Amino acid sequence: MQPTHMVSRPSERLGVLFPGMGAVATTTIAGVMLARRGLAPPVGSLTQLGSLRVDGSGAEVSVRDALALTPLDGLVFGGWDLFGDNAYEVAVHARVLEDKHLDIVRDELSQVRPMTAAFYPEYVRRLRGDHVKKASSKADMVEQLRADIRGFKRDNRCDRLVAVWCGSTEVYMEPAAVHATVEAFEAGLARSAAEISNSQLYAWACLREGVPFANGSPNLAADFPAATALAQRNGVPLAGKDFKTGQTLMKTILAPGFRARYLGVRGWFSTNILGNRDGEVLDDPDSFRAKEVSKLGVLESILRADLYPELYGQLSHKVRIDYYPPRGDAKEGWDSIDIFGWLGYPMQIKVNFLCRDSILAAPVVLDLALLLDASARAGMHGIQDWLGFYFKSPMTPAGRPPLHDLFAQAAALDTTLRRLAQEHRAAPDAAPAR
Ligand SMILES: NC(=O)c1ccc[n+]([C@@H]2O[C@H](COP(=O)([O-])OP(=O)(O)OC[C@H]3O[C@@H](n4cnc5c(N)ncnc54)[C@H](O)[C@@H]3O)[C@@H](O)[C@H]2O)c1
Repeated sequence: MQPTHMVSRPSERLGVLFPGMGAVATTTIAGVMLARRGLAPPVGSLTQLGSLRVDGSGAEVSVRDALALTPLDGLVFGGWDLFGDNAYEVAVHARVLEDKHLDIVRDELSQVRPMTAAFYPEYVRRLRGDHVKKASSKADMVEQLRADIRGFKRDNRCDRLVAVWCGSTEVYMEPAAVHATVEAFEAGLARSAAEISNSQLYAWACLREGVPFANGSPNLAADFPAATALAQRNGVPLAGKDFKTGQTLMKTILAPGFRARYLGVRGWFSTNILGNRDGEVLDDPDSFRAKEVSKLGVLESILRADLYPELYGQLSHKVRIDYYPPRGDAKEGWDSIDIFGWLGYPMQIKVNFLCRDSILAAPVVLDLALLLDASARAGMHGIQDWLGFYFKSPMTPAGRPPLHDLFAQAAALDTTLRRLAQEHRAAPDAAPAR
């Protein structure tokens, strides 16, 4: 790690850009506006509520102070969407936050207006919007996004930027030849290759502009070798993918417990209903496939059937999501878990989680924005797998298997946070790294 610039001067402004300004992005923005005025608590956010033991004294220091994170007052929000509504209008439509909260920040929230989107509809078939860019090629589209990024930074007098993809889930894609190298990807952009989806255009524009990028959806976005290579080359940190919030969060809390007690698991059936726009997009089987792959991966790595075939070798794991409009953002998930104990006797556990999707996602978005910024200031670049704590399908450097166990992820996160905090202590006044 290079010398650090961990000091956040009060005048510093960090621009947080959201490709996709729907329910999650606007719940995050409104929440920060409320929290910074002390009008609502930022529950679920490690960066706002967490503490660390930085030295051997046993004293706990707040994460915010230990890493000199940008204060909430220093955050400036922007983004893109294919619908032109401002953040207040989107939040009203999303029906996540109540009027008692939205009314307080209405004026401020109304000022946050999306820039026109880079949107080719074949990657998100259930959406059509008219707030979109026209471009002669995908290379031209990336250039327009780069101009937006520079314009936003200049107009809002930001010292630094970060981006968190909060756009829709795209159709399932696997990396192709065009994703192998920076040169192949650039050539693909020039010929508008079909394998390059919208989220990849935003990720590429961010990496080109040196803007740290996190991917909250299961989309490929930046999860391919060319993007990792560009991130390394341009010194940009990257993280993804797919926020770990509701059912998968519960799964990665429970499964490590069964493993730790050597209880067998024969089956895990998970089903969800949700009625927000995310649910509508996931009603397309190809978008659902992307989500399903992301959700199915977690149990194998936690339970380790390769080590314990008699306990987990027969596991049947199914995930279902159904779009059910009456529920809006209030998702309901059911897990039916078939476990077995001493002498193989079977038992069942039922989990019924009546959650609020965007309420769970917002603190994750805030933490990712602040921690990615901290890692950029510390000169870290490429895939930040210590941020896997926040994701269903953690991106890892080639050859390193992802951790899914929430407690193992929390330990990895804590280790890196402490290292960053110790570096900051050692060199609080070091020159900016970037
Ligand atoms: N809420 C959660 O708990 C959770 C958890 C994991 C992942 N996610 C993912 O986070 C993302 C956002 O979720 P949400 O509930 O806010 O969805 P949403 O549908 O409310 O918002 C997504 C927004 O992205 C916009 N969009 C789509 N393609 C775009 C493009 N190319 N450019 C600009 N805007 C674009 C849509 O118009 C929409 O406004 C989804 O991909 C979802 O799967 C959410």
